[in-house]
Amino acid sequence: MRIFKNDDGHMLIGGARATDIALEYGTPVYVTDEDAVRENYRAVYRAFSQHMPTRIHYACKANTNLAILRILEQEGSCIDAVSIGEVEACLRAGFTPQRILYTGVNVSTPELEALAGRGVPINVDSLSELERLAEITTKLPISFRVNPEVGAGYHEKVVTGARSTKFGVPKNQIIEAYSRAIDLGFHPVGLHAHIGAGVQVVEPFTRVTDVLVSIAQELEEKLGLDLEFIDIGGGIGIPYRCEEQPMDLEHLAEEVTRRIKENTSAKIVALEPGRYIVADSTVLLTTVVNLKDTPDKKYAGVDAGFNTLVRPAFYGSYHHIDVANKFGQPGSLVYDVVGPICETGDHIGKERLLPPLEEGDLIAVYDAGAYGFSMSSQYNMRPKCCEVLVQQGNTCLIREKETVDDLLRHDRIPSRLMI
Ligand code: LLP
Repeated sequence: MRIFKNDDGHMLIGGARATDIALEYGTPVYVTDEDAVRENYRAVYRAFSQHMPTRIHYACKANTNLAILRILEQEGSCIDAVSIGEVEACLRAGFTPQRILYTGVNVSTPELEALAGRGVPINVDSLSELERLAEITTKLPISFRVNPEVGAGYHEKVVTGARSTKFGVPKNQIIEAYSRAIDLGFHPVGLHAHIGAGVQVVEPFTRVTDVLVSIAQELEEKLGLDLEFIDIGGGIGIPYRCEEQPMDLEHLAEEVTRRIKENTSAKIVALEPGRYIVADSTVLLTTVVNLKDTPDKKYAGVDAGFNTLVRPAFYGSYHHIDVANKFGQPGSLVYDVVGPICETGDHIGKERLLPPLEEGDLIAVYDAGAYGFSMSSQYNMRPKCCEVLVQQGNTCLIREKETVDDLLRHDRIPSRLMI
């Protein structure tokens, strides 16, 4: 968790007062500190690249704002994309197709055609996808996502590497997949696995690297195939709670790269962090609009609900909460911080010890940069909120707040219903 400076009782984000940002742009608003994104990228890159050539494929599903993508393009990042929409966003942000690796699941043939049209390398998830891609082209660089039978993650919904999940080519079919790809005329360049998300310890990453290394060795021995890269996927967790420790990146990088260097001829280690790069760069600011005391609880009603940040409602995720205009004041009352969505599950934080709240106070929800805006919705016909970038005290809008007109633009009423 990032430590924010306190300016006379006001929270500072990237050198700007949170209260000033809320006043200028309204709430709810996602506020991203540009320097934090750059620092996080550099920390992962440095940890791995000191051992071997490294490609960081930022998993842009975490946050696809074009300004964030531009920042990472400038940093030299590559991309992990999961849909043609993400690919288009990255191309518009200035990434060349070669810097993008598409890893889809249950990929349709039209999507494969669009990707081939864009010349984006494809990380193939199934034998069916391989056969269908071969009908379109065999000229694209491909790799395979294996189901490594190593799963990990902070919640069952985000464990992807376990054998029972829908992801990847089953481990016992992976050599056959490469062999078939070669027969079809492809030149496979890499091997990939992704264990899951929010992993706070090194061990599952070393276990999955062992699986990848042993497959790479088998490919060298049986098919004479030397891979260009081994991609260990994403999933590096971050401490959402004050008492949690950050992942030991140095140890992670050392363990993973040593295994690859000692046992394979792969030249590059690739990884796909999403959360690690953007989560703690961004704070969601939301205003207390309504206070309610019930026999059981004190409710702080705010203007952001699970339409704005779904993680607490969907995964039971914890996001640290502070009061940006009473920054540093000790907590003395316990509140449930809840939103405007008409569902009981609509909460941003439960049982939080906060300074006594008043309507108009500004709540800061930490670590909202990953899977925050990108998973937001317009449920209850609430337009998505705006996003702001801060760089050393200067703020700028990086996404406009939507309007109700934006929401209705695509609806059509058949003329017979208008009579
Ligand atoms: N690579 C692949 C193939 C992935 O599926 C994912 C995430 C990543 C990389 C990046 O994982 P990260 O480093 O961000 O953990 N919505 C959930 C997280 C779902 C992650 C899905 N795949 C959340 O809000 O926690």
